[in-house]
Amino acid sequence: MVIGVPREIFPGERRVALAPSVIPALMKAGFSVVVEAGAGAAAGYTDADYAAKGAQLLAQRAEVFQQAGVIVQVLCHGSNDRTGQADLPLFRPGQILVGFLRPLGSLETVDQLRATGVTAFSIELMPRITRAQSMDALSSMSTIAGYKSVLLAADRLPRMFPMLTTAAGTITPARVFVIGAGVAGLQAIATARRLGAVVSAYDLRAAAKEQVVSVGGRFVELPIEAADAQDTRGYAKAQEESFYRRQAELLASVVAASDVVIGAAVVPGKKSPVLVTREMLRGMAPGSVIVDLAAERGGNCEATRPEEIVVEHGVTVIGQINLASEVPYHASQMYAKNISAFLLHLFRDGQERPNLDDEIARETLITRAGEIVHPRVREFFSLTKL
Ligand SMILES: NC(=O)c1ccc[n+]([C@@H]2O[C@H](COP(=O)([O-])OP(=O)(O)OC[C@H]3O[C@@H](n4cnc5c(N)ncnc54)[C@H](O)[C@@H]3O)[C@@H](O)[C@H]2O)c1
Repeated sequence: MVIGVPREIFPGERRVALAPSVIPALMKAGFSVVVEAGAGAAAGYTDADYAAKGAQLLAQRAEVFQQAGVIVQVLCHGSNDRTGQADLPLFRPGQILVGFLRPLGSLETVDQLRATGVTAFSIELMPRITRAQSMDALSSMSTIAGYKSVLLAADRLPRMFPMLTTAAGTITPARVFVIGAGVAGLQAIATARRLGAVVSAYDLRAAAKEQVVSVGGRFVELPIEAADAQDTRGYAKAQEESFYRRQAELLASVVAASDVVIGAAVVPGKKSPVLVTREMLRGMAPGSVIVDLAAERGGNCEATRPEEIVVEHGVTVIGQINLASEVPYHASQMYAKNISAFLLHLFRDGQERPNLDDEIARETLITRAGEIVHPRVREFFSLTKL
């Protein structure tokens, strides 16, 4: 089976789906790998690095699609909502596609993939079971985004993060507040701590408290409790707007006392809760920074504009999306490890055809043989049951 790695085509994307380091294990399992020339360049992987690990470099994108039985991408048509369409004519029926597909994004894009006849696996639907932990690309990318969010804040903040005692006086540490202590939030807390900030964090899931404390943060307790805060997969459940309003009111004093707020509170498939209102932003000191990791789905701050940096009342609000692409070397390395673990699982024991019977394949398989086959995706778009 040939794995094809095309160059990513989302504007500004710097990651690549396979880093050279995973190629030997794939080859040992019977795969061969073809890579579009220059695919890893923006992530720091040269064509020579790929060739040294045994991959074949191809000059033309179309050749990669022609030769490969499995195409691996980071942002596929769907999650690449700008230029992903350009790949549709290159797919052929029965070809396997693995990557971020954004399967609950738009029926039109899922349907376009269906029409190509590809067997498409959506890596963001990976079940959260122990067996699939090594394939959890969402967690990998959240780890990177959480780290980078703090660096963006530190770069923008007119203050230093650590406490310093110098001959020129004492510098007090920056106060960082992280809202939402999932994978990204926890990494933001750890990164801010490493830079010497005083960090506090809040999450509506009570289970998050222990994790916040374990990475050096102080957990902010609020005198409200979410009804049914967590689903069986460990994700937060959406709450009523009135709950979010009450949360925001209670968070106002913590936000006002913070130099940096990292918004990392999201609910899968839903608009993100607004937990920092414009009024709260006015309560922050001029020069403060908000980095809104939830920007892509509306944002945790009312002033956030996705993909933009705005300054309101002296507070900088960073709504940059796709932060994992800003640390492309390690983001690609982690993604490659996730994808190769998935492929080795799918084609285990050197089989020529993917094993579609087990939970991992079933939960991620979106289209096959010209049908949208994922029950949750069908239900989401009000399609009849198969
Ligand atoms: N394989 C696994 O078992 C596995 C893998 C990854 C994550 N996890 C766990 O799953 C949990 C969720 O992680 P995630 O990063 O996927 O979450 P996520 O990206 O879906 O959400 C980020 C965080 O926002 C929080 N949030 C949502 N609405 C909020 C609100 N109104 N106020 C405050 N916080 C709010 C969520 O509780 C979550 O912690 C974590 O406990 C994580 O450790 C488990």
